[in-house]
Amino acid sequence: MNHPIEAAKFDLQNPHQVAGQNVRHESAHLHVTGTAPYTDDVPELAGTLHCALGLSPVAHGRLIKIDVDGLKALPGVFAIITGHDVPGDNITGAIIEDEPILPIDEVCHVGQPVFAVLSTDREAARRAAARAKDFLEIEPLPAVLKPEEAHAMGSYVVPPMHMARGDADAALASAPHRWSGHFDLGGQEQFYLESQISYAVPKENDGMYVLCSTQHPSEMQHLVAHALGMQSHQVQVECRRMGGGFGGKESQSAYCARIAAIAAQRTRRPVKLRFDRDDDMMITGRRHCFYFDFEVGHDDAGRVLGTKVDMISRAGFSADMSPPVMARALCHFDNAYWLPAVSMAGYCAKTNTQSNTAFRGFGGPQGAFAMEVILDNIARKLGMDPLDVRLANLYGETERNVTPYGQTIEDNVIRPLIDELVATSDYRARREAVSAFNATSPVLKKGLALVPCKFGVSFNLVHLNQAGALVHIYADGSVLVNHGGTEMGQGLNTKVAQMVAQTLGVSLSRIRVSATDTTKVANTSATAASTGTDLNGKAAVDAANHIKGRLVAHLAAQYQVPVETIRFAHDMVQVGDKALTFAEVAQDAYVSRIQLWSDGFYATPKLHWDRHTMQGRPFYYFAYGAAVAEVLLDTLTGECKVLRADALHDVGQSINPALDIGQVEGAFIQAMGWMTNEELYWHPQSGKLMTHAPSTYKIPTASDVPAEFNVKLFQNRNVEDTVYRSKAVGEPPMILPFSVFLAIRDAVSAVGQHRVDPPLRVPATPEAILDAIDAVKAAA
Ligand code: MTE
Ligand code: HPA
Ligand code: MOS
Repeated sequence: MNHPIEAAKFDLQNPHQVAGQNVRHESAHLHVTGTAPYTDDVPELAGTLHCALGLSPVAHGRLIKIDVDGLKALPGVFAIITGHDVPGDNITGAIIEDEPILPIDEVCHVGQPVFAVLSTDREAARRAAARAKDFLEIEPLPAVLKPEEAHAMGSYVVPPMHMARGDADAALASAPHRWSGHFDLGGQEQFYLESQISYAVPKENDGMYVLCSTQHPSEMQHLVAHALGMQSHQVQVECRRMGGGFGGKESQSAYCARIAAIAAQRTRRPVKLRFDRDDDMMITGRRHCFYFDFEVGHDDAGRVLGTKVDMISRAGFSADMSPPVMARALCHFDNAYWLPAVSMAGYCAKTNTQSNTAFRGFGGPQGAFAMEVILDNIARKLGMDPLDVRLANLYGETERNVTPYGQTIEDNVIRPLIDELVATSDYRARREAVSAFNATSPVLKKGLALVPCKFGVSFNLVHLNQAGALVHIYADGSVLVNHGGTEMGQGLNTKVAQMVAQTLGVSLSRIRVSATDTTKVANTSATAASTGTDLNGKAAVDAANHIKGRLVAHLAAQYQVPVETIRFAHDMVQVGDKALTFAEVAQDAYVSRIQLWSDGFYATPKLHWDRHTMQGRPFYYFAYGAAVAEVLLDTLTGECKVLRADALHDVGQSINPALDIGQVEGAFIQAMGWMTNEELYWHPQSGKLMTHAPSTYKIPTASDVPAEFNVKLFQNRNVEDTVYRSKAVGEPPMILPFSVFLAIRDAVSAVGQHRVDPPLRVPATPEAILDAIDAVKAAA
């Protein structure tokens, strides 16, 4: 196997590992030695209480009574907290305030937290909480368990959304080919390795400190203050690192943060709340599953002339992030294709299940998925190679380049990117080889697919696109960087350190990035929408530049040289014909009373968005990519293997190719799991999520990595003025493994000589594959 990390060698000899270099993750040595402290590893203070949550056993019901006295009498129980104990407002929400912290009169899904148990012994708390059903009196109400049911009833968490361009009805009416279809796309669990956790410590004079595994410390601060009836300045939230977030800790880290803080305030003792895996999966939401109903009209060359699509997502019992997730899905239905006439509707169906939330891609992959299936079907109906249908529909570079939401695409590189991948993956020859193989192989079938990706980068809510940073240079010349972003394994701190090192002309060993802390940078956005480096990197560079400017002015005056002659590089400062060490300059500036620290700020330019008309420029730029996957399918057992996958991905000018390749590989395997393995199953009567542990919910493992897996970065530079002309990388490659799903679909389709569109659902488990094979055989 040609492992990309080999190609991207770490240069450990070079102390000046700055922009563009394969610097290893700042915590890599701690990760691999098991010494990187996560929230649960921080030593507990004396008097710490452990919290466990009692969960609703019913999907929907009137909460009549919680037997608090009975619960208090259980062994080891110190206190019980219910919704009545919330000092501030019990009704909250990330965007819409529609969910209780702890319910007072109604429970809305199996697994909803109803009360909290506190004990000095974590196991005692858990044992008491596990007996919830014995101490709850709930009168069951009818539950809505399926998004389709909610849609039929018109029951949504927010009003339906519409986005349109051109006259889709007229285009459909006059199209040479016109047909309709529907499709099911499953949801996905984030499965961060570190489950949700918060540790709340009461502070003097009514302050509250919360150590929290969160992508969004500022929102946790805000929500904790709201729950406690406090002002924001009373609440400090800190996060050094997460053991993964993947969107799941953008809003839903609030479950632990709020309840731990409420319990800490009521008891005046430190309180830790850590979910175990089952509780985490029963309580928190995940990627929305989508149901699509579509109609398409196209010509003989496979060009899409008109489309209409209804997207129905499973929002769960409250809004959480479902509205912007749906908005992003609508903004990604086009994926990389020009749609002259299109009409879309998005419905966030209200169901009595966990409230679904952000997950890497944030609806973008769901939207793009629908178009990829449509194009796949067009190819089959016309007897064309799906690649040729895709090529016929790609956005143009100077025309056919406006998205359905009115944004002109100014950085399109999809055609050269695909051309390069077609060549390096040998797509055309392998297509022939796959056909030849299938012609003589009745049981084993191969499939091949190429899928492009275009992903819009920026929060689709304009005001979130801002960031701050705080940079200190100490008198010894060492540098401490703090910024509003959070580290979840993606390498944000490493990239930000590289950019600050580059700006100050110092080696990385001089730079340390400290924990994210709401008392250092205020009003931050979530580290999300893949914008961590774009936003915080720019803010940190801005801060470093402020200090550098002061140093330059000081040195120019002191040595009587023009400012242009002063250069910062290799830990030295060249001042005219003098060379000073960076440490000497810092010491000298301190003695001369020059301010050696600064804040920095960044707000992404050029963005505007009208959420009523769903038109504007929601994205600063687009990231592109494409992947080819080849699979081998056993049509008797439904087992499937990815023989080879090639991905070519655009990260602009890479700040750190090794980290970027890691992100592309990670996203590829994670989304491949979504496409093939990871199945969520709610019990059709009780509404209980049955797949709430790794025993039944299967994420991919190392052995699922394709035998041949080639990941390459596309040579490019961002046309927009991003940090180092790089592009965001976290989420866009989640679209690439559609190639795996469509290759499986291609192999299933071969069973019916490519005459029938396989009704293959996501995830394409062996069971789903066998169902699809049966259907293809029956129809062929
Ligand atoms: N990579 C790791 N290792 N762990 C994570 O939790 N989250 C993803 C992506 N890559 C994640 C990750 C998600 S959902 C996002 S939005 C981005 O990282 C956030 O970080 P960034 O903006 O710094 O890329
Ligand atoms: N991504 C992640 N989180 C968000 C977004 C987004 O696009 N918009 C609002 N919150
Ligand atoms: Mo990522 S889903 O935007 O946290």
